[in-house]
Amino acid sequence: MTQVNQIYKCDVCGNIVEILHTGAGELVCCNNPMKLQEENAVDAAIEKPSDTKVMEDKHIPIIEKTDRGILVKIGSAPHPMEEAHFIEWIELLVGGKSCKRFLNPGDEPQAEFCVQEDGVQARAYCSLHGLWKS
Ligand SMILES: [Fe+2]
Repeated sequence: MTQVNQIYKCDVCGNIVEILHTGAGELVCCNNPMKLQEENAVDAAIEKPSDTKVMEDKHIPIIEKTDRGILVKIGSAPHPMEEAHFIEWIELLVGGKSCKRFLNPGDEPQAEFCVQEDGVQARAYCSLHGLWKS
């Protein structure tokens, strides 16, 4: 049984889908079951072992209040935004709303949302390292 907001990926063609309504069936793409993307909350990705910033995480969304709403930055050390490795989207989940900002290589790894509610959750999807949440 799927759950609302779950993310599934096809390892064959790269399709990624998000559940908007639960159902009992298995999601299939390219004749294979799609894989549920786990929401990582601890960053074990060591991207540059010789880098002194190795312990700083590059994936956990950081949520900050601003005058206009909420700013979500990806990583205490900014995540790379290169063609082969970048944050594809940042999502804010709050009060039954899902706000998503799609990013491109070269963009800053952050997104601002005009949302005033408290108790927000943020998720981000890295093209190499998958789904992250805070
Ligand atoms: Fe990454």
